[in-house]
Amino acid sequence: MSKYITTPIYYVNGEAHIGHAYTTFIADTMARYEKLKGNYTYFLTGTDEHGQKIEESAQKHGKPTQEFADEISASFKNLWDEFEIGYDKFIRTTDEDHKIGVQKAFEVMYAKGDIYKDFYEGHYCVSCETFFPETQLVDGEFCPDCGRTTSVVKEESYFFKLSKYEDALLRHYEENPDFILPRSRANEVINFVKGGLRDLSVTRTSFTWGVKLPESMNDDKHVMYVWLDALMNYVTALGYGKDDANMDFWPASTHFVGKDILRFHAIYWPAFLMSLDLPLPKHIGAHGWWTRDGEKMSKSKGNVVSPKEVSDVYGVENLRYFMLREVPFGQDGDFSQRAFIDRINSELSNDLGNLLNRIIGMSGKYSDFEIDSKDVEKYHTKELDAMNEALGNLDGFMQNMQTHRYLEELWKLFSIGNKAIEEHAPWVKIKEGKKDEALATVALVANILAKASIMLSPVMPKTTAIIADALNFTIDNTSYNELVIDKKLLKLFNIKKVPPLFPRVEEPLMEEAPNAMPDDKPNDKMKEELIANKEAKKEKEEDDNLIEIGQFFETSLKVGVVVEAEEVPKSKKLLKLQVDLGEGTNRQVVAGIKEFYSAESLLNTQVCVVANLKPAKLMGMMSEGMLLAAKDEDGLCLVRPEKPKKAGTPIG
Ligand code: MSP
Repeated sequence: MSKYITTPIYYVNGEAHIGHAYTTFIADTMARYEKLKGNYTYFLTGTDEHGQKIEESAQKHGKPTQEFADEISASFKNLWDEFEIGYDKFIRTTDEDHKIGVQKAFEVMYAKGDIYKDFYEGHYCVSCETFFPETQLVDGEFCPDCGRTTSVVKEESYFFKLSKYEDALLRHYEENPDFILPRSRANEVINFVKGGLRDLSVTRTSFTWGVKLPESMNDDKHVMYVWLDALMNYVTALGYGKDDANMDFWPASTHFVGKDILRFHAIYWPAFLMSLDLPLPKHIGAHGWWTRDGEKMSKSKGNVVSPKEVSDVYGVENLRYFMLREVPFGQDGDFSQRAFIDRINSELSNDLGNLLNRIIGMSGKYSDFEIDSKDVEKYHTKELDAMNEALGNLDGFMQNMQTHRYLEELWKLFSIGNKAIEEHAPWVKIKEGKKDEALATVALVANILAKASIMLSPVMPKTTAIIADALNFTIDNTSYNELVIDKKLLKLFNIKKVPPLFPRVEEPLMEEAPNAMPDDKPNDKMKEELIANKEAKKEKEEDDNLIEIGQFFETSLKVGVVVEAEEVPKSKKLLKLQVDLGEGTNRQVVAGIKEFYSAESLLNTQVCVVANLKPAKLMGMMSEGMLLAAKDEDGLCLVRPEKPKKAGTPIG
């Protein structure tokens, strides 16, 4: 099967920001996913270089327009190359081949009677490169999309008969409910079309930085409207308009776009294609808008997130993981370092990284690094079934672009692996002389990691290649078919040691945006998570989890009674408790459990407290103990004595 996936082509009036990176990451992930499945896949990205906006930007920078466009286009291409975006073609609308294709399309539409000449008088927003009828303007003057001042333009123009395609478009939406994804976005498009489509002005005479009309039109006053020019890139990239065009990949599987440009892709573009007698793309996938620390990004606020800056300090694959995991496709997302660091530490470092380290450690100790899957089915059918069920759910999520659900489901595999280690405790089995059982658990986890790495590879290609190398296989369509589709297990091999893949991030590595979270600094918040994970981390870093009894008794655990409880303002996670440990004065414990317990519900209940932790400050408040709790994918619960015990009773 062939698949054709595209990003929007980016305007060359400024450097790439995190929103551009997001579209590119999703499209790249989807293209890699299709390639992994063995589909013949073509992935297109590029730059949109014509129009008044670019011409004006170049002038502002005092540069000839082409030179300016060359520089910014190269900066996008270099960034994607540095990020190892696996595009098959990087198109520029200033490419000669592209211009030929656009001119050809104009000729075909004109010959069909879909383009005619008239006068245009209207309000034009240069920034959006769009005309708006007076009724849509804000205060009779400002652009309804971006709020900038529009200017009145009266000029001779060629028009495309968009109105002619109104019914055909509505029929198409109805017959293809997945044309616009997520489906929830379809209504705004359908209502817009139902509101009546006006013919679209598709040429300009007020500036010259654009594709000229075809020679056959004999009208060199006009240049093409930038959206006609730009949308055509999806077919000119395949050679449309040239004798040697190879349109095998057409129609596109998915055009990924931001919600702001959905209308152009879901109305104008299919109408142009109908006019050209070309089939329509299968899906237009519209994603949401990214903000930073809850605020809209803008150059004037100085809070634009540069993907290069983020990737330089956190790594591009961590960034890909974060963006695709954080946001349900179609919804707006927020970039905050705190949320980013949380995911790196808890999901990448703890769940995935430590699992790999643990089996490297255990197999080194018990079997000289040899991993043998021969007994996995004998001892671990329950885990294999659960793993296969989760693996089987993945494709549906990816097909619907629900990358956050896809990753969430994939992470179930790591929790199956971690649980199996806890439940089967290979170190105990070794002591009991049940070496086969111990090694089967280690091999189970190796298989989990292998299969999960294959499925994670579209999101984190380089990291998963390192994991696969440690597990002595290569991620490709063959291993996908064998290990994921045919559910085979790894053959006998020797596992390799790998350097830590996800070093924990102890504090923010980038400067915060101006005015971001002034009194809720990530540093404090992170400490909360750090403390919660400290014990777990120390434990997991041990190769096989064995400690001396004396080490256990170094921890003083006591029964406590919660005598006061209140919420910590401005914190999503923290509750402030006063706990009676039978010491005469109460201890203040700041606990990250607000999402799971209300303050009132804790009053007069018993808890288990780590009583000899060094006091720590959380959001400026002293915490003099830690509550014992258990957390899995269903949430967190406190560990409490089965029957009431006196405050201060030691636990051991
Ligand atoms: N050149 C047009 C697209 C033509 S496609 C035939 C264009 N370019 S753009 O550079 O302004 O935007 C490119 C993409 O970046 C759009 O999909 C847009 O939605 C996306 N984003 C721009 N800012 C964004 C955020 N803050 N967040 C998420 N995506 C955003 O439009």
